[in-house]
Amino acid sequence: MPDLSRITCIEDLRVIAQRRVPKMFYDYADSGSWTEGTYRANESDFQKIKLRQRVAVDMEGRSTKSTMIGQEVTMPVAIAPTGLTGMQHADGEILGARAAKAFGIPFTLSTMSICSLEDIAEHTGGHPFWFQLYVMRDRDFIERLIERARAANVSALQLTLDLQILGQRHKDIKNGLTAPPKPTLTNLMDLATKPRWCMGMLGTKRRTFGNIAGHAKGVKDLSSLSSWTAEQFDPTLSWADVEWIKKLWGGKLILKGVMDVEDARLAAASGADALIVSNHGGRQLDGAPSSIEALPAIAEAVGTEIEVWMDGGIRSGQDVLKARALGARGTLIGRSFLYGLGAFGEAGVTRALQIIQRELDLTMAFCGRTQIDEVDSSILLPGTF
Ligand SMILES: Cc1cc2nc3c(=O)[nH]c(=O)nc-3n(C[C@H](O)[C@H](O)[C@H](O)COP(=O)(O)O)c2cc1C
Repeated sequence: MPDLSRITCIEDLRVIAQRRVPKMFYDYADSGSWTEGTYRANESDFQKIKLRQRVAVDMEGRSTKSTMIGQEVTMPVAIAPTGLTGMQHADGEILGARAAKAFGIPFTLSTMSICSLEDIAEHTGGHPFWFQLYVMRDRDFIERLIERARAANVSALQLTLDLQILGQRHKDIKNGLTAPPKPTLTNLMDLATKPRWCMGMLGTKRRTFGNIAGHAKGVKDLSSLSSWTAEQFDPTLSWADVEWIKKLWGGKLILKGVMDVEDARLAAASGADALIVSNHGGRQLDGAPSSIEALPAIAEAVGTEIEVWMDGGIRSGQDVLKARALGARGTLIGRSFLYGLGAFGEAGVTRALQIIQRELDLTMAFCGRTQIDEVDSSILLPGTF
């Protein structure tokens, strides 16, 4: 195990990930759509919110423990679904799921993961995890995927609603993103500077979309796989499909990608267990508000009917606390997780979680609170949110 005691913030992990992960995959993580304005605002809008420092309050016996859809969590943070995670580090999804299990928070596997549902089940001893579903045109494939999720002991389904079509990310186009990378001269020169990553990849058989390859009709090789995935995101997705998925799955359902109060009302009326205020980490509609800006109105409108969570821009435990204060019962982290993974594998994910929990715990104390479940907007300075 590497000694990570001098890694003190998520930014440290980001810098190391940038050195260790091939450019194509680092850029895939560290980017937003078009001007990346929404991507940047997700982080910078957190900075505008100021905390009220309180003193001479008994700070003993603090706890960051809470629940998300009834599940006990060490802190109100889950790992968000991220595609191609097994390209940030060999077997990345397995490592992330293991770190989350040991820390006591939920891990979400993406439909577009490298490691499959079955891989996660096998390597975490059948520990329950969450699965994120993209609705594809091939509905038979979706039905089978849901069956596979059930067999893998998935305990909640996250249905992503904000990717019927793909937002344009300039870097991915310029880098010619594929999994695995094509052996072009540029890629080979880049890989030559990433020996750890290459060694990891040589030691695993998991190098392409594990939930799809060998499971979707007509997908035999890499080129048929890329054309299948490019054509499969279903632009016709509607609330009727949400109802269909809800019936088919029958378990806990989380709706991801809600940014508007009207949609939040529809999400609450759908009978789902939670909604995630999310702009997909600034990767879809550039020009949408940051998630933390959209959160308060949504929490106010539907927070008593459905659990409201948020993701986007969380790089510190302070951000988690601010989100909680503004009505998010739970939060999810995408890039903070990926940077830890890309930098040091499983140990890096664990370090990212430790950093966030410590920041959350200390900030809570400075704001005069000992229990995360007692935090509300009174910890924030009026006029700054
Ligand atoms: C590299 C990357 C891949 C992602 N892939 C998916 C995905 O497959 N499914 C999904 O619902 N969201 C996906 N997301 C969005 C995340 O689930 C989450 O909403 C976002 O990362 C939160 O913002 P943050 O990265 O600032 O924490 C992805 C995000 C990133 C950064």
